Amino acid sequence: MTLRHFLSLFDIDAQEAHQLIKRASELKHLQRQGITHALFPHTVMGMIFEKPSTRTRVSFEAGMAQLGGSAIFLSPKDTQLGRGEPIADSARVISSMVDIVMVRTSAHAKLQEFAEYSAVPVINALTDYNHPCQLLADMQTFSELRGAIQGRTVAWLGDGNNMCNSYIEAAAVFDFELRIATPLGFEPNGALCTQYADRLTVLNDASAAVRDADLVTTDTWISMGQEQDKQQRAQHFAPYQVTAELMAQAKPDALFLHCLPAYRGQEVSAEVIDGPQSGVWEQAENRLHAQKALIELLLRSKT
Ligand code: CP
Ligand code: NVA
Repeated sequence: MTLRHFLSLFDIDAQEAHQLIKRASELKHLQRQGITHALFPHTVMGMIFEKPSTRTRVSFEAGMAQLGGSAIFLSPKDTQLGRGEPIADSARVISSMVDIVMVRTSAHAKLQEFAEYSAVPVINALTDYNHPCQLLADMQTFSELRGAIQGRTVAWLGDGNNMCNSYIEAAAVFDFELRIATPLGFEPNGALCTQYADRLTVLNDASAAVRDADLVTTDTWISMGQEQDKQQRAQHFAPYQVTAELMAQAKPDALFLHCLPAYRGQEVSAEVIDGPQSGVWEQAENRLHAQKALIELLLRSKT
C-alpha cells in the first residue's frame, strides 16, 4: 500500500500523466452520456480552502458526488485552522476521518507539511508556488482540441506566477518547448528555470515568445493576495496583453487557453478570449474530468 500525494506534476511520471488525461477524456464521455460511474461509493474528500475559488471548489465537489462519494468544504473562517491550530495536528485529525484531502493555500510549505502528517492522499489545489490540477485540465484540453502536445511550442505571456511555474513542470512531464515572456523582475521560479533550461526560454518580448506557437496562454496579472500592487502591476504588464495582433503571429491554428478567472482588457482582449481560437470553456470544464481521473489514480494507488 503506497500513500501518494499530488503536490506537483512531478508526483506522476510521464506515462501516468498521459494515461491520466486519456482517462479524463473517457470520464468526460461517460459524464456527458449520463452513464453513472460511482467508482468510489461512500468516499469522502476534505476540501481546505484558504483562498477563494469557483472552478476548483465546484469541480472537486461535483466530481466526488459523481464518483459516488461526497466532499466537505472547510474554510479557515469556520475551522480551528483559522484560529491557529497547527497544520500537523489538523492534518492528523482531518485525515483520520476522510479518504482524500485537497488543499488551497498560500505558502507551499504549508501544503507540504499537511501532506507530511496526512494519512490519506493530499492534492495541491493551488499554492503561491504552483497549480498542478489546472495543468492536467490544460493538457487534456490541448490534446482533445489539437492532438498530442509532445514536441509543440507553448507561449506563456505575463506574470511568472504559480501557473507559469506549473507550465514549466508540464513542459518537462509532457515534453514540449516553453517560451515565457514576462516583464523584468516578474520571471518564474529561478530554480525551476535552471533545472529545465533545456526546454524553456525566458524572454521579455511578447512577439518573440508567440512566434509560430501552437498554444498561447496567460493568467491574471494580479494573483490572489497581490491586490495591493494592482496599479503598479498593470503598468508593467500592459505590453503582454494577449491581443488578436499577437495571436496572428502564432501558428494559424494556435489555441488560446486561460485558467480563469480572466480580466478582459488586461491580460487578454475580449476578442481573443471570446474568439474562435479560445478553448477556455472546455478547459474550465476539464477541471472536473481531469481531477476525477486524478482522484482515481491516487485512491487506487492507496488500496
Ligand atoms: N482556475 C482556477 O483554479 O479557478 P478558481 O480559482 O475559480 O478555482
Ligand atoms: N495566478 C492565479 C491563479 C488563479 C486560479 C492566482 O493565484 O490567483
